[in-house]
Parts: sequence; structure tokens; C-alpha cells
Amino acid sequence: MATDSRARPEEGEAREDQVQTIFSEIAPRYDLLNHVLSLNIDRRWRRTAVDRLEVDADPQRRVLDACAGTYDLSLELARRTGFGGTVVASDFARPMLVAGQDKLEGAAVQPVCGDSLRLPFPDASFDGVMVGFGVRNLSDVNVGFREFHRVLRPGARLVILEFTTPPNPIIRTGYHFYFHRVLPLIGRVVSGHPWAYTYLPESVKGFPGPEPLAEALREAGFQSAEWTLVTGGIAAIHTAVR
Ligand SMILES: C[S@@+](CC[C@H](N)C(=O)[O-])C[C@H]1O[C@@H](n2cnc3c(N)ncnc32)[C@H](O)[C@@H]1O
Repeated sequence: MATDSRARPEEGEAREDQVQTIFSEIAPRYDLLNHVLSLNIDRRWRRTAVDRLEVDADPQRRVLDACAGTYDLSLELARRTGFGGTVVASDFARPMLVAGQDKLEGAAVQPVCGDSLRLPFPDASFDGVMVGFGVRNLSDVNVGFREFHRVLRPGARLVILEFTTPPNPIIRTGYHFYFHRVLPLIGRVVSGHPWAYTYLPESVKGFPGPEPLAEALREAGFQSAEWTLVTGGIAAIHTAVR
């Protein structure tokens, strides 16, 4: 299968523009493709990620969903019995926020168009931060981690759900075939975008594994950073305490 060179993640501002453009263009088909391509496993991962935030029922609680996209993670928390607070859902691709808007009916979710590398929020203003499949897209993950640390109150948690590469060679072979052959093909046909779904596996390939990521979280100032693999290591969930 031909790989468009534009699908290779760039660096710095060029990368930010590239990522913002990709998600703005695929926004109308994002939800459909997300659940088809992940075979709906992402729902289970999102539940586990939200469990790990350990936010209580206090109605004053404010949780940030950074790189929120079409709000799947925001809604996983906002619709829980046992959560009485507000989810602030921020993303820099406005078309993603617009595409998910119909799902928000009656949910305590506040959309904000903003960049995760320059969060438009005061220091220590959140009781939790969560990021689903977002950090891999940041042009500088260390800047993002420092921003998440800055906006969290002391003792509160950051939870990151992100794709990774399975450690087991047999699972990895099947995963590579699916991710690099099947997924770009289905993505191209359904989204109509020539290379957005080639960008996805390319961006996972170029992203640090769980341990370097945990180290980067500690360097950003988090007291502790732990991670677990889910579904054979296709994805990892990181939990860090401010
Ligand atoms: C793969 S989608 C994930 C969306 C959603 N969190 C989910 O779990 O389905 C990645 C999202 O990150 C957003 N994003 C990437 N870089 C960003 C940045 N620097 N600031 C804000 N949003 C960003 C994209 O616009 C996109 O909506």
C-alpha cells in the first residue's frame, strides 16, 4: 500500500498545523471510524481510564478532558452516577467539538476550543485531567505534561489513555498487519481522506513507549507515574499524581 509522505508526523508548529488540519477534516466521520476501527474495544478502555481518575461525587469537582475531540471520554465521566461535577472538554480542532455536540444533551460538559500546549485555564484549577488518544498528537509532549501538571490541584490525578506497541511478538505481528494495512484502507474509504488514517499508525510508531512516557511525566513534576497495558498492549493507561 502506498504511504503518502504527508502522513509522516512533522515537528513543532508544522506538526500542530498538520494535526489540527487532519482532525478538522475527518471530524464528521471520526466517531463512526473510531468505533469501527477499534472494534468497540475503546469503550472498555475509556471506562477503565475514567475509573482511575478516582474523582468523588462533590458537585464542585471540575475535570479537564484535554484533546477531547467528540467527547467520548468526557461523557464516560459526566454520565456516571457518582460524579456530580463538571467536565471541561478542550480541543484545538473546533470541527471535532462541533461534530460531537449532539451527544452532549443534558450532560455537564463544557466545550472549550483551546490548545493543550497553552491551556487557557488558571493554575491548580482542576480536580482531575484526562487525555484519550491525544498526547501522541502533541507537537511537544513535555510541554503538554507541564501544562497538565500546572492546571491540576496538588494531589489530583492525570490519566492518559494512549495506543502503544504490544510487547508480545505474536500479538505485535497481527497488530502491525491491522494497523498498517487494514486500518489505513478502511479509514481512507470511509473518511474520504487520502492519508489521515495512515498518519494514525505512523504517529504510534514514532511515539515513546510506556516507560519513557512515565519518566517524562515524572520529569514534568508528577509525584508518581504508573502505567498498565490493556488488551495485550495495544493501548496503555498512565496514571500520575500531581
Ligand atoms: C485521536 S483524537 C482523540 C479524541 C478523543 N479524546 C477520543 O478519545 O476520542 C485526538 C484529538 O486531539 C486533538 N489535539 C491534538 N493536539 C492538540 C493540541 N495541541 N491541543 C488541543 N487539542 C489537540 C485533536 O484535535 C483531536 O481531536
